[in-house]
Amino acid sequence: MRKKIVAGNWKMNTTVAEGVALAKAVVELAGQTPDNVGLIVAPPFTHLCCVADVLKGSKVELSAQNCADHESGAYTGEVAVNMLASAGCQWTILGHSERRQYYGETDEKLVEKVRLALAGGLKVILCVGENLDQREAGKHFDVVSEQTKNVLFNFTAEDMKSIVIAYEPVWAIGTGKTATAQQAEEIHACIRKVIAEKFGEAVAEDLTILYGGSCKPSNAKELFAEKDIDGGLIGGAALKADSFIEIAKSF
Ligand code: PGA
Repeated sequence: MRKKIVAGNWKMNTTVAEGVALAKAVVELAGQTPDNVGLIVAPPFTHLCCVADVLKGSKVELSAQNCADHESGAYTGEVAVNMLASAGCQWTILGHSERRQYYGETDEKLVEKVRLALAGGLKVILCVGENLDQREAGKHFDVVSEQTKNVLFNFTAEDMKSIVIAYEPVWAIGTGKTATAQQAEEIHACIRKVIAEKFGEAVAEDLTILYGGSCKPSNAKELFAEKDIDGGLIGGAALKADSFIEIAKSF
């Protein structure tokens, strides 16, 4: 049975004190979520050590929102995988559309980042998703398949055990416009098929594929009921512990 996961991407929100308080509230409520649902929070870099302390002994795991595409050295402003691991991260999000759109993250760079993350013992949540123009031009299946192939076809079936994919249609992120369960499901099924073609059915069946984009307590149940949707990557609704936990209770 593949793992179900609800991950909170805090983006560039909260001070350290606010982040610690949010993490404490999540830990307090985590017991209400089903045992088979993994919980992850992804605070900003500055919060990681403090939040790691809060999460200790709980079921909630820690993720970064990005990592450097180099191992170490003269890369001012960057944060390397070994730093994230030593701060207590088990995961990093990579390829979020905001990184692709505003910070020039390319599939090529992502291959390097995924490689470094896995080599450094981190698991990866790799984001893929089409923008509104691509959806309206009917290119969403192609765009998402290409992003998936461009990055993940450089890895092995063994590597895939440490990788989760998040499908996040850009037009649904932070807009309040959620993809319908059917729109999300058909892309998730397509991603699983792409993975099956390269790595085989067993790897594809084991792969956790999350949906992200205005996922909230009121729509999570319907999304998570789809057979290829294994949880969510949550932005806005993860900034309140009770709505984040409510989403995780939606399976
Ligand atoms: P949202 O963000 O839930 O605020 O739409 C999701 C994400 O970008 O990860």
